[in-house]
Amino acid sequence: EKDGHDWFMRKEIFEQPRAVADSLLGRRTPEGHLHLDEMRLSDQELRDVDKVIIIACGTSFYAGMVAKYAIEHWTRVPVEVELASEFRYRDPILDYSTLVVAISQSGETADTLQAIRHARTQRSKVLAICNTNGSTIPRESDAVIYTHAGPEIGVASTKGFLTQLVACYLLALYLAQVKGTRYGDEIDEVMHQLEAMPDHIQRVLDDAASIYDMAEAHVDTRSVLFLGRHAGYPVALEGALKLKELAYIHAEGFAAGELKHGPIALVESGLPVLCVVPPAGRDQLRDKMVSGIQEVRARGARTICLVEDGDDHITPYADEIVRLPRVPVLLQPLVAVVPLQLFACQLATLMGHDVDQPRNLAKSVTVE
Ligand code: M6R
Repeated sequence: EKDGHDWFMRKEIFEQPRAVADSLLGRRTPEGHLHLDEMRLSDQELRDVDKVIIIACGTSFYAGMVAKYAIEHWTRVPVEVELASEFRYRDPILDYSTLVVAISQSGETADTLQAIRHARTQRSKVLAICNTNGSTIPRESDAVIYTHAGPEIGVASTKGFLTQLVACYLLALYLAQVKGTRYGDEIDEVMHQLEAMPDHIQRVLDDAASIYDMAEAHVDTRSVLFLGRHAGYPVALEGALKLKELAYIHAEGFAAGELKHGPIALVESGLPVLCVVPPAGRDQLRDKMVSGIQEVRARGARTICLVEDGDDHITPYADEIVRLPRVPVLLQPLVAVVPLQLFACQLATLMGHDVDQPRNLAKSVTVE
């Protein structure tokens, strides 16, 4: 049942190329238009949307952070991302022109469910992004985009996350199509880029052995920092969450630009700092990231840099390099998170922890 793997989590990490491909299947008409099966919101209702609020918890929340970048870029509609557990307690501003997007792999998370119930009392439309057919959150939503990850057994979300990202990109492109934004022309191109992602993810997986070696060198580590910028920032947060959940070690993700505003005080000799470097096409972003890496290294950090193939800019400042396929910045989370999943899974295994059932955690959190 684990296909020869030691853990469901590892099996699920390796299923990601297929899960992403399945989540992209059948989304286009023969004429090349995007078509989302259970959209159920009319084009007019979507054209009336003037604000999107994404609500989710944990890993799904990080998918929401990436969605904000994609939706705002392709549609120019403002997006807020909010932790479901905080949402209804702050008297959020909602009305019929607000689209609330609930992201939940299980579809049963109580915090998220209560948040969408609140949104609906305020007449907002609710769209669920969910991996579990017929679960409560999609049943109580106006529309659904189902991800096709297949059942996710490991408590730590992996293929659930990647397929949520795919659904978020599809939603962003669909909104661009319906609203006729100037990025509408890019839809075809982005769909092709998305369709190439399963192969890119596979290439990262083919190199798993080098990540496992890296994990081996970190079994005594008690603390790890993760840095990212732009779409790499949620990846940093997700990498840190995976380490906390599975290896029970202190791990924190930061937006690299925030370092100098405090967190850099944490850096001391030998501290591993994992850096998600933006693609070279985004030079300004990339260069800023490089200076952040230099800063922590000058203070003794051991830098592990996730860098796209062919970018040698970073080499002088990296103690270790993990190569990523060359992809556009908005899609980079789909490949950049994979080494971080492998790293956490392997480190926890080497430390003797139960990877599929980490202590104190449940697969779906049905209490608020
Ligand atoms: O089923 P959901 O997507 O609503 O779950 C949300 C979080 O509980 C979940 O992502 C959690 O953070 C995972 N254990 C992360 O690996």
